[in-house]
Amino acid sequence: MNAPLTDMSNAPDYVRHTKLRAWVSEIAQLTKPDRIVWCDGSVEENDRLCQALVDAGTFIRLNPTLRPNSYLARSHPTDVARMEDRTFICSEKKDDAGPTNNWVAPAEMRGTIHRLYDGCMRGRTMYVVPFSMGPIGSHIAQVGVEISDSAYVVVNMRMMTRMGRAVIEHLGTDGRFVPCVHSVGAPLSAGQQDVAWPCNQDEKWIVHFPETREIWSYGSGYGGNALLGKKCLALRIASVMARDEGWLAEHMLILGVESPKGEKHYISAAFPSACGKTNFALLIPPKAFTGWKVTTIGEDIAWIKPGADGRCYAINPEAGFFGVAPGTSEATNPNAMKTLKSNVIFTNVALTPEGDVWWEGMTDTPPAKLIDWQGQAWTPDCGRLAAHANSRFTVPASQCPSMDPKWEDPNGVPISAFLFGGRRSNTVPLIVEAPSWEDGVYMAATLGSETTAAITGKVGVVRRDPMAMLAFCGYNIGDYFAHWLKIGQSMTKAPRIFRVNWFRRDAAGKFIWPGFGENMRVLQWIVDRCEGRAQAANTPLGNMPRFEDISWNGLEKFSAAQFADLSAVDVAAWKEELQSHDELLAKLGAHLPQDLAQRRKQLHDKLAA
Ligand code: GTP
Ligand code: SPV
Ligand code: MN
Repeated sequence: MNAPLTDMSNAPDYVRHTKLRAWVSEIAQLTKPDRIVWCDGSVEENDRLCQALVDAGTFIRLNPTLRPNSYLARSHPTDVARMEDRTFICSEKKDDAGPTNNWVAPAEMRGTIHRLYDGCMRGRTMYVVPFSMGPIGSHIAQVGVEISDSAYVVVNMRMMTRMGRAVIEHLGTDGRFVPCVHSVGAPLSAGQQDVAWPCNQDEKWIVHFPETREIWSYGSGYGGNALLGKKCLALRIASVMARDEGWLAEHMLILGVESPKGEKHYISAAFPSACGKTNFALLIPPKAFTGWKVTTIGEDIAWIKPGADGRCYAINPEAGFFGVAPGTSEATNPNAMKTLKSNVIFTNVALTPEGDVWWEGMTDTPPAKLIDWQGQAWTPDCGRLAAHANSRFTVPASQCPSMDPKWEDPNGVPISAFLFGGRRSNTVPLIVEAPSWEDGVYMAATLGSETTAAITGKVGVVRRDPMAMLAFCGYNIGDYFAHWLKIGQSMTKAPRIFRVNWFRRDAAGKFIWPGFGENMRVLQWIVDRCEGRAQAANTPLGNMPRFEDISWNGLEKFSAAQFADLSAVDVAAWKEELQSHDELLAKLGAHLPQDLAQRRKQLHDKLAA
């Protein structure tokens, strides 16, 4: 007879979940930490961890008068963004990961994991972090448990999710949870001094097993690589759950917009990383839009379920913002600046002599002297960025003045429209409405965008980023398109689908569209379309507003000629664009839904005519 497994989990009495205890035990035996701490999510625990991070040199406490209860962390210069080339979907069959994901056979990956994690937490504390994505107990929410050897991860997870004892109590004796193992991959030998930002400079792995719904992350302490509730669970694993269970897990913001007549619509928008989700979700309408209100449900991820009434309902599975700092200012995003007044963790921004933070774009004139994100003295003429281009803030969503009264509604909010947008200097017009759900799915599936600093690698190259999910779909992208088509058919009141592009540039390279709050003008047209009253021109690309269909109140200087530049359809450029669509569609092979192949042909014919 086998000897019973010793419970090494060190679990508090309130943990009654046998499988959870056994799993924590098993991971402790593998990773061999010095101690195990179960996180309860309390203020006291958080204060203790933040103080320990200050003592370790990971955190710098900011000036408590200027930025109460806030910290600055500086990462290792090689650990600053998500690493798509180190991200793996380990499905049993390669075909189930599809042409857009890195794949390794599960058995082989299990071997790699054993090599990586054996003793990887030596000399460190292993934290057990129970969390809920979505309001605890919501029928749309999911529970995860992240084991991590990083206190930085714990204090970030506490803001980004509902974290702690209440989640364990909700799980009871046998609730479902997604096991997530994270290690910075930097064990300490006896007496070895730790560094401020431990990570593994030789190898990083972000691994998902979609069938067994597990996440294993190794070597990085940054953002989406390490806060495993976010991209790993809420998008890659959740997209697989959503496929199997008939819902959608999307890289989308959710906002509410109310007209002066009191008509309220919720809109969900997918833009790739660092392409304006936070800005759009926190939008403040221009002065001339009296009576219009915009409220926020979420700014990065949406979980969407068809309801019994033929509509679909969305929740924000997160509880905080992990937002891009550069470009955030009183001019571009006043609601974000208000949100960031206290209780913030800043990562890789610059430090002022007064003990506050600064980043490019926060003010027109930079401070005369700063300490840059790498801890070096900085002056405006030194030729370096003060803040890393992917520097970020972590902050509770509840601090944002525009949060919608329903942002924590466990049943979600009904969605009237989906928007898809990328960063495109040319070719793609400001706004187009898809004539049908299927046309919209084609539009979204072939979304293109110029790459940003949110991922490691080259910035500014156009690539296809279907539904802004290229890096986040946990299964075959062709099957994902088919799932979208099927979900649309399952709803009698499917949302309308639109494509937007705030980023078109003129010959001098300047943005043509003023963007930010002025995006309200496009939002108004969308609401008016949803209400069935706005006019549109029929074009080969879809329904587009004419100049006179948009409200220009307060922006009279924006000319019809400029609008024509934003809306121009350059047939030669679109021929090239279609070729680029074809390259993506060709990769799908037998997984290409016939409906999309047909839409592609129709679009080609319309443009040729
Ligand atoms: P992730 O958190 O990475 O998923 O990204 P996000 O989509 O939330 O990114 P965010 O809203 O923080 O985008 C920030 C970048 O987009 C900054 O460089 C902004 O200046 C720029 N941006 C946002 N909205 C607009 C806009 O309307 N016009 C222009 N030109 N730039 C914008
Ligand atoms: C993104 O890159 O889309 C983000 C930031 O939202 S991270 O959490 O690092 O993935
Ligand atoms: Mn994102």
